[in-house]
Amino acid sequence: GEVRPRPQPWWQAPMWRDALLQRAEAGTPRYVYHLPTVRERARQLRAIRAIDRHYYAIKANAHPEILRALVAEGFGLECVSLGELDHALTAVPGLDPARVLFTPSFAPIEEYAAALARGVTVTVDNIELLQRWPEVFRGRALWLRIDLGYGDGHHAKVRTGGKEAKFGLSAARVEAFMEVARALDVRITGLHAHLGSGIESVGHWPQVVDALAGFARRIGTVEVLDIGGGLPVPYGDDDEPFDLNAWEAQLTAAKAVHPAFALAIEPGRFLVAEAGVLLARVTQVVEKDGIHRLGLDAGMNALIRPALYDAWHGIHNLSRLDDRQWRDFDVVGPICESSDLFGRRVKLPQASAPGDVMLIADAGAYGYSMASTYNLRALPAQDILDDTGAAPACEHP
Ligand code: LLP
Repeated sequence: GEVRPRPQPWWQAPMWRDALLQRAEAGTPRYVYHLPTVRERARQLRAIRAIDRHYYAIKANAHPEILRALVAEGFGLECVSLGELDHALTAVPGLDPARVLFTPSFAPIEEYAAALARGVTVTVDNIELLQRWPEVFRGRALWLRIDLGYGDGHHAKVRTGGKEAKFGLSAARVEAFMEVARALDVRITGLHAHLGSGIESVGHWPQVVDALAGFARRIGTVEVLDIGGGLPVPYGDDDEPFDLNAWEAQLTAAKAVHPAFALAIEPGRFLVAEAGVLLARVTQVVEKDGIHRLGLDAGMNALIRPALYDAWHGIHNLSRLDDRQWRDFDVVGPICESSDLFGRRVKLPQASAPGDVMLIADAGAYGYSMASTYNLRALPAQDILDDTGAAPACEHP
């Protein structure tokens, strides 16, 4: 197909660039999230009429302002732990539990019981859970997560389907599950499949609709098909943006074949990745054996995606955006591991120097939410930027 160029990222506009440089003065490493971009992504998905229910997977980024913005845009929230659940219910005052999903994996039974007590929609994904704790689930309406037998996604570590994956009920055991469920007077009102993250083929989701609809017709009580998250974002300059128009067309066709069911999605990355940047300062510039290294005050503890998945993030010198003399640098952090590397041979201004403010792009998803204090380095700070100007800083929540 034709190549659709990436629009200029928000942070290249002089107004936002200046705002970022100003925020960096308050200390780095610092994540900054641009709420207008979050809202824009939310509206793109809400505009797809074939989708009846929209949830946000808060594991991608649970900043309270982001949760409130997305709920205001009509999204419910998908949570995977009691910690996420209580965070969501606290961060969004008055949030209707009916708009919250609880989709844990191998969580302690107390978390299922607590989620049911809070009135949110609980998804189970195995038979053993019902057999071992019938008293927790008896008489409930639940959703069921099914492993359709394959996974997909940007890296083996984020594919969540297939025999070797721990998620979901094997498709071969749906009948057996339903026998146990009926005996407990459990009604299955939703079917769920999330088979991975960063899935590039638009055909993935309509295929999931077809597969889940087949099970739903046999079960008889299903109202909602939740076809997961997993929408990709273009991290690299050569990555094409996800083709939302083609996606909409295919989902609309799939929905026309299975009009009896409401369709739900639960993306994380798509809504927040491009809205977030990680700001860091250059600590040292060092040449060793012909390799030039730029050291940052942010390391793999602040953003683990490159170390964990060999993920690629754009890296820019925000203090020298207009420089035109380049040099290849390996961009590293201050953590004592060789995996503490944001990029090899990255073209950056030759004059890059200690104190410069560096920007790591598209870091709004699975950045802060996966940060740690490894090496006893502090968690990064977090800030919000909005059209109305500056919202107050939210340090280490
Ligand atoms: N629903 C379920 C049940 C999930 O497990 C996930 C993500 C999502 C929805 C949202 O997926 P998304 O739309 O963000 O792809 N840390 C990895 C990604 C792990 C995704 C885990 N599950 C990364 O940084 O690439």
